[in-house]
Amino acid sequence: MLELAQIRSDFPALSQKVHGKDLVYLDSAASALKAAPVIKALHQHYKKETANVHRGVHFLSEQGTRKYEATRLAVQRFINAKHDHEVIFTKGTTDSLNLVAFSFGEKFIAPGDEILISTMEHHSNIVPWQLMAERRGALVKEIPINDAGEIDLEAYKKLLNPKVKLVSLCHISNTLGTINPIKEMTTMAHEIGAKFCVDAAQSAPHMKIDVQDLDCDFLAFSGHKIYGPTGVGILYGKEELLNQMPPYQGGGAMIEKVSFTGTTYNHLPEKFEAGTPAIAEVIALKDAVEYIESLGWDDIHQQEQELLEYATKKLLEIEGLKIIGTAKEKTSVISFVIKDVHPHDLGTLLDQQGVAVRTGHHCTQPLMERFNVNATVRASFSVYNNKEDVDALMAALNKSLKLL
Ligand code: ALA
Repeated sequence: MLELAQIRSDFPALSQKVHGKDLVYLDSAASALKAAPVIKALHQHYKKETANVHRGVHFLSEQGTRKYEATRLAVQRFINAKHDHEVIFTKGTTDSLNLVAFSFGEKFIAPGDEILISTMEHHSNIVPWQLMAERRGALVKEIPINDAGEIDLEAYKKLLNPKVKLVSLCHISNTLGTINPIKEMTTMAHEIGAKFCVDAAQSAPHMKIDVQDLDCDFLAFSGHKIYGPTGVGILYGKEELLNQMPPYQGGGAMIEKVSFTGTTYNHLPEKFEAGTPAIAEVIALKDAVEYIESLGWDDIHQQEQELLEYATKKLLEIEGLKIIGTAKEKTSVISFVIKDVHPHDLGTLLDQQGVAVRTGHHCTQPLMERFNVNATVRASFSVYNNKEDVDALMAALNKSLKLL
């Protein structure tokens, strides 16, 4: 079992009041609070260790480079990648998916080719493919979902054909909490020669990711959702694919030699890391990864599933409340609507009582359309949430509903 009191003390943001009330933070799916070791590492870098990486011979630059590369090794272990150079530092999940869409698209997508994504994708796993499809004359097709918010595997099977070159899917839906059968779907894609890309933004904080076991071709996640810094994320890609793909952005560090008669590019991973990176943030990402690993996946899973069960049961006691997303395999994210109540009004009243939730379409407009709603209220739970947080949500909800 997780030591919740200890964990909560590792997150300084939790010990503050908002509108005069103790903060109840139920918006970790948007951005998780920062763990103390992460804050310390950021502070240390900006206070004493500022220097550029891969560029200097002086002490601070070499120290920075060592620490920067140590994070790559930590992430390699975190996702069980075969090689450290298969881990590319990006600005975040969105940046990683745009990188794949551009670079994979340039190399491997021809007119008439198809890319499959599902109804439950975040806009960042829709729009980059649409932009690429427009450039390359390709088609983006939708894998439908059922009323519980689960992938329709029969429909997926039917959509797979030799024209499909890539399938890109969220591991966990940010709106529904559905955990998708990525391994099975990757195998199915590979059978027809398509590549598989995983948006792991929501799964990285909740479950062990093993890219070799999943056998996915690409995988992306963000630092800020795993208790780490904003402005940094990773793209994992299989070495043989990344080696064949052209650079995404040009600039310093990604080159081997620049000349007006022809420029050659650096090897992996630098080929995809143009310009000065988010150095402090990459360095502090290691602390985030190590923090999660120190908690242990089994205990994280047990704690979050207990909260999911408790919160679901409590919420369903409210008259007129409907949960959007009732998949059998689900993580601790609950989206709901209440009859005749606008989610935004509810979110504002909850905030007045110190309870932070997200309201709106959650950057999943096609999914909203599928469930015939404009918006939902979303409560997302993390390792630092406890049953008292659920009780506070319920008390605030009941009070708000009386006011509305
Ligand atoms: N993708 C993030 C969310 O679901 C921002 O809130």
